[in-house]
Amino acid sequence: MSIAELARAELRTLHPYEAAQQVDSTIRLNANEAPWSSCADRFRRPLNRYPEIRPGSLARMLGAYFGCDPSRLLVTRGTSEAIDLLIRAFCREGKDNIVTTTPTFSMYGHYAAVQGAAHRTVETLPEKDFEIDVDAVLEACDEQTRLIFVCSPNNPTGTLVPRQALRDLLERRGDSSAIVVDEAYIEFSGEPSVVELLEAHPNLLVLRTLSKALAFAGARCGTVMGPVDVIRILNAIQAPYALSTPVVECVEDALSSSAIDEARGRIAEIVAERERLMAATSSFAFVETVWPSAANFFLVRVDNGDTVLRRARDNGILLRNFGGSLQNCIRITVGSKAENDRLLTVLAQMDRGEP
Ligand SMILES: Cc1ncc(COP(=O)(O)O)c(C=O)c1O
Repeated sequence: MSIAELARAELRTLHPYEAAQQVDSTIRLNANEAPWSSCADRFRRPLNRYPEIRPGSLARMLGAYFGCDPSRLLVTRGTSEAIDLLIRAFCREGKDNIVTTTPTFSMYGHYAAVQGAAHRTVETLPEKDFEIDVDAVLEACDEQTRLIFVCSPNNPTGTLVPRQALRDLLERRGDSSAIVVDEAYIEFSGEPSVVELLEAHPNLLVLRTLSKALAFAGARCGTVMGPVDVIRILNAIQAPYALSTPVVECVEDALSSSAIDEARGRIAEIVAERERLMAATSSFAFVETVWPSAANFFLVRVDNGDTVLRRARDNGILLRNFGGSLQNCIRITVGSKAENDRLLTVLAQMDRGEP
């Protein structure tokens, strides 16, 4: 069975919105557009015209970049939109559920709440470096579990899910649920993307974003990749013209080879800075734990989280704290070398007990 059959029955046969035809070198009086282009228009495709209903050339470029056939890929407004589309497509309000590990990215639970789907969580433990327990995830599932979200590397812990654990989950859950692997931070891990498992595992969906390693958070662009029939359903429910002309052109430029080469160099710098920051941070007496990280951030436990946050804030540096099982834990995003130096100076002053 295809996991597309787990989607809401009324959406499986929904057709995408039928957009007005767009044919070059024609007089276009079929879409109620303005006939003139504004003087503020600096784009290759004029802004008085609607963008393509789905950005075809961008999808091909992203497919080439991520190693996936474009027919298996939907371009979305960040992976945030992909998460929303997936939960709306698969979960019936009041009936179906999603499963996540905890702690993890809060957007999965948020969109489950928006859709009225239940959210089941499986705890991962700080003393086990937040390792995923596949048996526990499978035990948390029932017949109504439509989606299992696996965030790897995980936000906010930085934990990478080992390939073998993921294969185990994919194989043992089979076509009873879709397994959604969110790889927002995979470029910082040095590990290959699980996109290469798509052929072998028809219950796998993969999320990738341009917001992190490619430095395009402001453009709002990501992808969901998976079986063609699932992509077709997501395509039918996504808003028409979701990706605007400025975004499409900016991301096309970002995917040109020179921009990608530049990003590769920067990723290596961030990884080196992460290792430097983690080593320096672990030497401070007020830092109790520094967890391993495969992302562009890392998580630490300190003796007094509020004091550290306040001290950083007073010096113009924002860090992120969490509640629940992550009391006194702080997530530190790796910045530029100068930003990291500034953070280390502030933390060292604190460590020496200087006011
Ligand atoms: C794990 C994870 N997934 C997805 C996102 C959302 O990314 P996007 O900017 O692509 O919507 C984030 C953002 O912080 C994230 O941490």
